Amino acid sequence: MNRLPTQPLGLCLRAALVVAAAVLASGCAFDGPMSTLVARSDLNRSILSVYRIITWATVIIGLLVFVILAVVLLRFRERPGLVAHQIHGHTALEIAWTIAPALVLLIIAIPTIQVIFRTQTAAAPQNALEVRVRGWQWWWEFRYPSLDVVTANEAHVPVGQPIVFVMEGPDVIHSFWVPQLGGKRDVVPGRLNRITLTPEHPGEYWGQCAEFCGASHANMQLRVVVDEPAAFDRWVAAQKAPAPEPSGDGAAGKEIYARSACVGCHTIRGVSAGVLGPDLTHFGSRTLFGAGLWPTTADNVAAWVKDPPALKPGAKMPNLHLSDADSKAVAAYLVGLK
Ligand code: CUA
Repeated sequence: MNRLPTQPLGLCLRAALVVAAAVLASGCAFDGPMSTLVARSDLNRSILSVYRIITWATVIIGLLVFVILAVVLLRFRERPGLVAHQIHGHTALEIAWTIAPALVLLIIAIPTIQVIFRTQTAAAPQNALEVRVRGWQWWWEFRYPSLDVVTANEAHVPVGQPIVFVMEGPDVIHSFWVPQLGGKRDVVPGRLNRITLTPEHPGEYWGQCAEFCGASHANMQLRVVVDEPAAFDRWVAAQKAPAPEPSGDGAAGKEIYARSACVGCHTIRGVSAGVLGPDLTHFGSRTLFGAGLWPTTADNVAAWVKDPPALKPGAKMPNLHLSDADSKAVAAYLVGLK
């Protein structure tokens, strides 16, 4: 009977596995923008310290287990005449393997509990800046009660000052997560969750909703921009200023905006006062829109205004059937709202 050669298939399978592993692993980076291993706040540093202790403890245990396993396999492998010596009950061994894991648990538990207590305290420091975070399907709202500033998807905070992010949840459950600043807290209806942290390096930090919240969960990104104090003060002053008056195409866009359904959902101070969608008073000052999806350019915004659900599955902003020319005019107006 002829048998099919199995060797080539086995080789192909092995080669495919190696290629798949290489491709999958290439997606991993220690210093990527969504890496939790890059600590840019006091909170993330303390979480990383626990992470390090647990990693080293488990590496040492893993090595010990494999060394003992190798010794046992070699020393007690099957040989003629070798009969295993049976032991029943060994008090010293039993005490040892009860105490050793207890010690390991203790080494892991003490710093873990310390960090939990330090990072979950209800009271924020006196000088903390409060940022109210609201998750909506599918975008983020940031309110600064002490500064009277409202923005969306891009929060600015000053470096070196404690920030308390207070999660308010009027919508379904979302989860606020900015990996390099640490944390991840659920935004739950009827609850106020908090993260208190002090950003330690200026920069732009990526974030992402981390709790499945519907069709565009994956499209619910955010940015936290950590500014030098002077730059933060300039940002606050610009956000508090009235919306700039448009000219040219933008002026036509403002008229279209003001007589369309846009006004039912969006606030542009002095023009409309809707609260269902993002505040657009300074829309053009944000580098990205659509919850971190596209750069805020006139072309991108025109495509979005024309047919939002086509670009973002499940988008609550409806297609208002604006003409191409009207979409472009509205985009010119919005992008000019610096
Ligand atoms: Cu919001 Cu997932």
